[in-house]
Amino acid sequence: MRPSKRVASIPPYFFADLAGRLSEVAARGVDLIRMDMGAPDLPPAPHIIHALTQAAARPDAHSYTPFGGTPAFREAVASFYRSRFEVDLDPRREVLGLIGSKEGIFHLIESFVDPGDVALVAEPSYPVYASAARIAGGDVEGLPLRRENGFLPDLAAVDRDRLAKAKVLCLNYPNNPTGATADVAFFRRAVEFARAHDLLLIHDAAYTEVAFDGFRPPSLLEVDGAKEVAVEFHTLSKTYNMAGWRLGMAVGNRQAIEALYVLKSQIDTSHFLAAQEAGVAALTGDQAWTQERNRVYRERRDIVLEGVRAIGMTADTPRAAMYVWAALPKAETSSTEFCNRMLEATGVSTTPGVAFGQEGEGYVRFSLATPTARVREAMERLVRWRG
Ligand code: MLT
Repeated sequence: MRPSKRVASIPPYFFADLAGRLSEVAARGVDLIRMDMGAPDLPPAPHIIHALTQAAARPDAHSYTPFGGTPAFREAVASFYRSRFEVDLDPRREVLGLIGSKEGIFHLIESFVDPGDVALVAEPSYPVYASAARIAGGDVEGLPLRRENGFLPDLAAVDRDRLAKAKVLCLNYPNNPTGATADVAFFRRAVEFARAHDLLLIHDAAYTEVAFDGFRPPSLLEVDGAKEVAVEFHTLSKTYNMAGWRLGMAVGNRQAIEALYVLKSQIDTSHFLAAQEAGVAALTGDQAWTQERNRVYRERRDIVLEGVRAIGMTADTPRAAMYVWAALPKAETSSTEFCNRMLEATGVSTTPGVAFGQEGEGYVRFSLATPTARVREAMERLVRWRG
């Protein structure tokens, strides 16, 4: 039994591996508090679940649906982009339905990166960008995200030889894991950079609807001409707490959307109709619910900030996304070791920064997708451990 070299050379996905390790810890009777994965704990709004059950009860709901998403879902995505970002999209050629944005990002990178090509990937970052590029045989050039630069990459500093071989640039704002945000001026520079160097700009906008204190994160497609070079990904996982439903979308450049469509049509046969109908209800229905949900995350954010600062970690207050990115206490050097010790001593599971790339070393990511009372308890345990 010999897997391909491509697969044999990669480790399992960080959170898949972690889930296995955590089952062993739980089997020892430890009361685990999971603040590792960004998996929303609250259910979606009732009108979304209603749309799902209504559609699932229809006798015609169980066949295959159109490749790339139903016309209604694609229209709903275009309508969301129009009302939320004032961005116009052609639902037939500039929108594609996905089985979650993770698979879409992976497959778009597979569609553009050949062996020997370079993928420019902000680091630390969601692990899928780099692993997709490596599986395609590409070479990953990490663009460091540093606190002193507001966790934005310094595009002018990219090595010229690597840039000459680069095919794609992967960015993600609001940022996972750092919680940093980017403004339209930065997106404009990224679009100009992609145009100047003939890159496909891949922007993961998973967290634009998770924001605090009145802040409204922009879409990269708000930049004039962005569609000439960019594809943006969005997911209903974080926006509407529909993570397990696996529903997302790619929008933007039509040639890239077409290439992704061709590859995906060989791999999957679209998505369950009822999930897409619920997606339509989510995207076009009342958006007030997300503001309420964000208030819950904001309260948790503040509890976490107080807790981590009490144990000597430093963390900026994030304006968006669902994470607190905290620097290790002085004298600690390994995020993996620190998280392992925290888990053993307190039962609180977090993500070591290095899981997001070497540039994440020195940090720990706390997810806010855990019930508020458990977040409070987790911080009390940390203070008892180290305070
Ligand atoms: C995260 O925790 O970074 C993501 O939610 C994990 C994932 O989507 O796989």
